[in-house]
Amino acid sequence: MRIDRDISVAEIEDWLRDDDAAHLETLWHAADETRHKIVGDAVHFRGLIEISNYCVRSCAYCGLRRENAKIDRYRMNAEEIMRCAYRAVAMRYGTVVIQSGEDYGVDCEWLASVIERIKAETPLAVTLGMGERSFEELRMWREAGADRYLLRFETSDVRLYEKIHPDMAGTKSDRIALLRVLRSLGYETGGGVMIGMPGQNYTSLARDIAVFRREDFDMIGVGPFIANPDTPLGLQGETDGVDQIRATDVMAYKVIALTRLVCPRANIPATTALSVVNTTEGRVNALACGANVIMPNITPVEYRKKYAIYPNKACAEETAEVCAEKSHLQIATLGCSVGTGRGDAIRLA
Ligand code: 5AD
Repeated sequence: MRIDRDISVAEIEDWLRDDDAAHLETLWHAADETRHKIVGDAVHFRGLIEISNYCVRSCAYCGLRRENAKIDRYRMNAEEIMRCAYRAVAMRYGTVVIQSGEDYGVDCEWLASVIERIKAETPLAVTLGMGERSFEELRMWREAGADRYLLRFETSDVRLYEKIHPDMAGTKSDRIALLRVLRSLGYETGGGVMIGMPGQNYTSLARDIAVFRREDFDMIGVGPFIANPDTPLGLQGETDGVDQIRATDVMAYKVIALTRLVCPRANIPATTALSVVNTTEGRVNALACGANVIMPNITPVEYRKKYAIYPNKACAEETAEVCAEKSHLQIATLGCSVGTGRGDAIRLA
């Protein structure tokens, strides 16, 4: 089977269906080699700060959805966020990722002032993951110094997206269009999808990977879907439909490897959800088949438990220091090194 950047959607789909161990070895190897050649052997660390778990949306998969009365809601203050940023500097991370539910209680100007402080007082790159915000908000945060924005589009299958991600009154959610807006504002942009949502089939996942290529994202985050019992999708089995994608670690490795092949320059994290599905090897396997980024959670532990997107979030109780120590060992084993500096996206000539 062909393995190159211009592989067709049908060929991507063939790879997703392939469970031959020897074939898959060639896939892991090709992705690892592309990673090595194009983005190098440095693994970049991004400290994740989950600043608020309030959310106005009703996503069928996510524990932060507004209807979920089972979680305690919190919002961090500026001093708490700055303490996390300083911790990231002390841990030698090059980036902080400020993430939250779609929370309009996070005031636009207030967040701009926090971004300005981080940029003025530290050398950190700032990545935002604040959901589908207005052009004005996104522009103000960019002007305040934010460098990057993460917004997974979850699936490129319009019918599935409508089912899992209800629109807000009066506005059609189009995350791919919003990612283009983010890029036009000068952000490095990050797309991504979940793997194995009920109703997601092989063709649709193969198309998602082709969308990564078409949109040429700077960052691409993928991870297995994890059923959350406090959400509408928590009760459904994984296997509805004949062509259902299963939410396994191996399927996630395939997606990571194929993504590396079609988007050679992208920064691709070994995500938390993958570590939940395979606690011992998820992260290291991802780094061995195309991923080059780790996002340790540096949210204060009392809040971290409450950021319950799905059950058993990895490192939920672990300190960032313990996390880092484990990761450093794994990185050395792979013949990689810990990245220094911000780990910005590279541009290919
Ligand atoms: N399982 C796996 N990933 C999830 N996310 C949200 N809910 C789940 C879940 N139940 C992912 C989505 C979202 C990101 C912040 O977390 O892809 O964009």
